[in-house]
Amino acid sequence: MTRKIDIFDTTLRDGEQSPGASMNTDEKLVIARELLRMNVDVIEAGFPVSSPGDFESVRRISELAGYDATVCALTRAVDKDIVCAADALEFAKRPRIHTGIGVSKSHIYDKLRIDEDTAVERAVHAVELAKSYVDDVQFYAEDAGRSDYDFLVRIIQAVVDAGATVVNIPDTTGYSLPDEFGRRIKYLCDNVKGIEDVTVAVHCHNDLGMATALALAGVRCGARQIECTINGLGERAGNTSMEEVVMAIRMHGEELDAHTDVNAKEFVKASRLVSSITGMMVQANKAIVGANAFAHSSGIHQDGVLKKRDTYEIIDPADVGAGQSQIVLTARSGHAALKHRLEDLGYEFDDAKLDELYEAFLNLADKKKEVYDEDLESLVNERDREADALYKLDRLQISCGFPLKPTATVTLVDPEGEHVTVCEWGTGPVDAAFKAIDKVIRRNVDLTEYSVTSVTRGIDALGEVTVRIKDEEGGMYIGRGADGDIIVSSGKAYLNALNRMLEDNKR
Ligand code: KIV
Ligand code: ZN
Repeated sequence: MTRKIDIFDTTLRDGEQSPGASMNTDEKLVIARELLRMNVDVIEAGFPVSSPGDFESVRRISELAGYDATVCALTRAVDKDIVCAADALEFAKRPRIHTGIGVSKSHIYDKLRIDEDTAVERAVHAVELAKSYVDDVQFYAEDAGRSDYDFLVRIIQAVVDAGATVVNIPDTTGYSLPDEFGRRIKYLCDNVKGIEDVTVAVHCHNDLGMATALALAGVRCGARQIECTINGLGERAGNTSMEEVVMAIRMHGEELDAHTDVNAKEFVKASRLVSSITGMMVQANKAIVGANAFAHSSGIHQDGVLKKRDTYEIIDPADVGAGQSQIVLTARSGHAALKHRLEDLGYEFDDAKLDELYEAFLNLADKKKEVYDEDLESLVNERDREADALYKLDRLQISCGFPLKPTATVTLVDPEGEHVTVCEWGTGPVDAAFKAIDKVIRRNVDLTEYSVTSVTRGIDALGEVTVRIKDEEGGMYIGRGADGDIIVSSGKAYLNALNRMLEDNKR
């Protein structure tokens, strides 16, 4: 059996320190409920002395969590912080006070303006005071990532002797390299007496984009608790992201001698929830929970994934609540992807028809960034309409604008295969195009209805035009046309209605 790694979520404390991500108590409770569903081990609910809102959040989350998770409150190594945290945790079934002090030379001399002996004294006093309220006391050695190895051993030894149950070794500034950070954790494990009886935790920031790697290096070298946040939210560049670290442990559990009890199926839901509450967008290419995390765009990758998912995917998207792998249809997609998508939509075509559609698809994909299902349906319908048409639209060119007279030049292919080109002007570009088509077909019809709708989202969406015409005998005919250019859609729709009328007259 591999070691159980405790997942300590600090979305509500360090995550909330992200500029612009502050949350009120009700919002924190919604996230806390989700954290409980995810089965995290510890919820850091806030920094009670910092504001009445944080105090209230710690209280309410303590009541909510019951025995299901440890609820933790942050303090500085300052008496009033610790008393306030103890008060906020009054109703917690599993309370933890998280106290600590800076341990690097920069923090001791430049920030706190004390000396190392005083830092050790304050640390020990803080742990002893916290211990007088709760059994579970976690000590953080702030800026441990830049501290002197032997001073770190000294202060951690002192707090372990004072009764700390968890010692948290943060890389507060995200400065370390993973192997060096791992060596630091190992050095502590080898040199602090009694450390085997306490939990060593890692809390890593992402200033060099290595927060997840740092946390894993810590686990490899002896850490048994990882502090992390949903979406990697946190001060500056953020913290270790929970979804990344949990999935990495799941994937490499044997090598790391580690497992967690977190329910990964909640990850996408939790990510969206935190993003919508904090207003912090998740980048599309974010590991595990980004919109593109399971989306395949290149033809080579799509072909591989369609043959066997794990050719290009190491995680089953269903395992993190992301549904299915996505095949994104773009100009780089191949026949295999188009065929697969069409089959999903219920269409089956022989190879010749598929080749034809593929060509039309590429033309469309060159104009649009992404081809959606609705575009494909429209494309298929358009091909069907064109295949049966007596008259086919070969070219349509418009010139219009201020102070030009809208003019359309149209080339149709007639039932004998002859190309007929005409030119007409009208009150607008659509009117000019319809008049030019009328000039070739030479039938008197009334246009009784005309509407345009967008087939999909975005400025590059296909526009679908529907027209209704009435012939001299009162017969009504509907026509449809779709194209990225709505004047072309209009011409196609009008011609489609006329073709239907001509077919009907023939019959
Ligand atoms: O980054 C850090 O050092 C912290 C501590 C308060 C744990 O957030
Ligand atoms: Zn932090």
